[in-house]
Amino acid sequence: MLPARAGRLITLEGGEGAGKSTLAKALAQDMRQRGLAYILTREPGGVPAADRIRQLLVTQSEIQFAPLTEALLFTAARNEHVAQVIAPALARGDYVICDRYLDSTRAYQAAAGGVPSSACAVLAELIHAPNPDLTLLLDLDPALGLARSEGRAHGEDRFERRGLGFHQAVRDAFLAIAKAEPRRVAVIAAAQPPQIVLAQALAAIQARGWI
Ligand code: TMP
Repeated sequence: MLPARAGRLITLEGGEGAGKSTLAKALAQDMRQRGLAYILTREPGGVPAADRIRQLLVTQSEIQFAPLTEALLFTAARNEHVAQVIAPALARGDYVICDRYLDSTRAYQAAAGGVPSSACAVLAELIHAPNPDLTLLLDLDPALGLARSEGRAHGEDRFERRGLGFHQAVRDAFLAIAKAEPRRVAVIAAAQPPQIVLAQALAAIQARGWI
């Protein structure tokens, strides 16, 4: 159980090239200007152990993983991240802005990859992953998102290289999660200009009375 003075966990989710990182930085800047205590982090990553697992997972290489192995590796990275960064920040009462989290495993490894969603639920429970208080889902046509992210030449393209069908399944899964949990998940059309996306994200936070 979280202590009484718990912070808020805000996660950003969506397909490739949806602008999550841009929005995460803009939200962090807004919180800084308001004088709020926050941390900005991402998955997979956020701590050295998880960053090392990230290299394995997102860099395209000759090594292939079964979807369940991916889910286990993302969860291993998340276990370190939750224990070392997310849970302590929430216990301090900070806002945590996290670029990708549990819903990415549900969408990429379960819905699109074929891992039973019950397995993902067990893994989340096993590591005591706190549930997000708010998830901002940046929704975008994957054809557009993949074209956007292709320009980035960052070498982290293991998932980007999967076909359009895979990414359509990821999008559908995110939208299904949003439909099932409308109080937690706010859907934002990511094809809009970044300042509109930011305004809608802030409106979702304000609607909860947090800022
Ligand atoms: P990023 O592009 O947002 O940095 O994320 C790296 C990739 O990892 C992205 O293609 C989505 C994928 N991913 C999963 O497949 N499952 C997960 O649980 C997470 C956190 C990311």
